[in-house]
Parts: sequence; structure tokens; C-alpha cells
Amino acid sequence: KKIIFSGIQPTGIPHLGNYLGALKQWKHLQDTSDKADSLIYCIVDLHAITIPRHCKLLAQSKREMLAALLAIGLDPQRSTIFHQSAVPAHSELQWILSCTASTGYLSRMTQWKSKLQSQSLSLSPSETTTSNPALRHGLFSYPILQAADILTYRATHVPVGEDQSQHLEFARECVTNFNHTFGSNIFYPPKTILSPAKRVMSLLDPTRKMSKSDPNPKSTILVTDDQQTIKKKIRGAVTDSGNFVTYDPERRKGVANLLEILSHLREDGATPAQIAEEMKGEGLVVLKKAVIEAVDAELAPIREKYAELLANESYLKQVQRLGKEKALKKAASTMRMVRTAVGLDD
Ligand code: TYM
Repeated sequence: KKIIFSGIQPTGIPHLGNYLGALKQWKHLQDTSDKADSLIYCIVDLHAITIPRHCKLLAQSKREMLAALLAIGLDPQRSTIFHQSAVPAHSELQWILSCTASTGYLSRMTQWKSKLQSQSLSLSPSETTTSNPALRHGLFSYPILQAADILTYRATHVPVGEDQSQHLEFARECVTNFNHTFGSNIFYPPKTILSPAKRVMSLLDPTRKMSKSDPNPKSTILVTDDQQTIKKKIRGAVTDSGNFVTYDPERRKGVANLLEILSHLREDGATPAQIAEEMKGEGLVVLKKAVIEAVDAELAPIREKYAELLANESYLKQVQRLGKEKALKKAASTMRMVRTAVGLDD
């Protein structure tokens, strides 16, 4: 029996990277998994507050993310869809895991190191990274909370994009540390499931991943973008000076990214190289046109459903309550085992 768990931060509408790299896979797993398997999808609001934002904005983003997950076809009856902070066990388990987690390992995490680097670049010479108030502990211990999310449900499989691989490696380390320290075997290492679209690149800089934190909206396509916006963004995608179609991910990263996006949307499973072969002799306009059509066809039903759902406040509330109830129940059964293993029973 599989227990599938994954999470997404409510920090804006999901983009094509989130969709192809994770959400489409979540839906696929929902549609293809065995009835006995559990599917648990979490909107990680506690992770989102590592970058402080106005409370009203967070509340709105949480609602929007719930609507987006339903719009892509997640079924609240089949899957457990909920907000992380509705289940206090995540925070409790985070503390327990932090008592056996290595700070050395945490300080080697790429996301932390890049934060450290970008922060220290902005420091004056008299300041040090250790005295920098912008380096918050929540960002440092972020991976422990992520491990707690997964382990609260004793998940066996975690579908994510490639940028989460290191965090999942760390979650496996947390399992080893916990089991070793408390002489228990209640946790087992969760497996990473990488989708074929494990790393969708920015439309403006194909050497960087498409990212929600990119300040330029033209670098991403949101799953709710309308046809005109999709057209404009893909027409403006940075390629190179060669006006012909070849699949060369080393030397032609921009063209390769477009071919890969198209390949992930093709139902016949054509590879990027095969699509490039089909377009032999054509210019990049033809490739971009095909990408626009494929992306728009995929996203049109999602944006329609999204608009409908967002207007239906009472339905969203109902889904939220149902998800919370189901998640609380599952979490309680793990936490009973954890408390016994640690010796925290009453
Ligand atoms: P987040 O919110 O940044 O992203 C959600 C999912 O989208 C994937 N993703 C991408 N995939 C391909 N190409 C891209 N350009 C791209 N950008 C994002 C991410 O890999 C992710 O799967 N820390 C996590 C959230 C989290 C979580 C968890 C995930 C919290 N707890 C437990 C799994 C299990 C994050 O910030 O994802």
C-alpha cells in the first residue's frame, strides 16, 4: 500500500514548472493509483511564512492555491487536500525531528547556502553573516519541517520537481536519525518520484529554473494565464540567434526548453528530439506557435474551472474542512506511535 504525499507553497498561482514538474503528476497519481493507496496533498502555509508577507495576502494565497489544486483536477474525496497549519502535528514532529537532526547537514543545503550567499553579498564589510537579522532560523530549519510533513503521514512516495531532491534526501536522513536515536522502526525512508518534467526553465533565462520568486512575470506562465498572455510570453521567450529547430540542450538551452515543454504536453509521448526532427527546416516561429497551442489547450479548462471555484467561497470552505478532518485523523495515528517511541506518553 502506497502513501503518496506532496506539498506546495501558497506563494502565488502555480506556474508551468509547478504544474508539469509536480501538480500534473499529482493528478496522474490520483487517476492511476490503487484504491488502497492514500494521496495526501498539502498547501504548506507554515513554509510560506519563512518569507514574511501581509496576513491578508497569505490568506488570499491559501484560498487561491486550494482553488488551483481543485482546478487541475484533484478530487477532495479521493485525495486529502489541506492546509499544513490546520494540522499541528507537523510542527510538533518538526521539533522532535530537530532534536536528532544535524546542523552540519542543514548548513550544506543548497537553498540555505544560496540564501546565505545572497544575504552576505548585501552586507557591509563590518557586518557578518552570523549577525545578519535577515538570516532567519525558519529558513535554516525549513527542511526539518518538510521532513515532518512527509513523516506525519509515514509517506512512502513523494512526487516533486528536481529542486526538492536534496530536501527529500534530508528527510531520509531524519528517518535514520530518529530510528537510530529512539531505537524505533516506525519510519521508513520515503522515495522521491521525479516527474519527466523535473526542471522547467525560465522563459527569459533558460539557464535558471522557472520560479515563483522571479520578479519578472514574463519569465513564467501561470496556470491561470489567458490565451493572449500565453501568446505574448511564449513569443517573448529567449532563444538564440539560430532561426531553426534542433534539440541541443547544451548549446541551445532556450530552444531545448520549448521543445521539452511541448514534449511534456504531447499525448503521443514524442521526445524533444523527435519533435525537433518533425520541425526540421522550419523556423522558431513554428515551434513557438506549437508551444502556444499546446500550452493554451492544456490550461484553458484549468483557468475556467479556477475562476468558477474562486467565486464559490462556501465550496472552498467545505473542501478545506473535509481535508483538515481527514489529515488530522491520519496524523493522530502517527503521533501516537511517535510519542510512545520517544517516551512522551502521558
Ligand atoms: P514549491 O512550492 O516551490 O514547488 C511546488 C512543486 O513544484 C516543483 N517545481 C518545479 N518543477 C519543475 N520545474 C520547475 N521550474 C519547478 N519549480 C517548482 C517543486 O519541485 C515542487 O515539487 N519545499 C517545497 C514544498 C514542500 C514539500 C513538502 C514538497 C513542503 N513540504 C513535503 C514535498 C513534500 C516547495 O517549496 O515547493
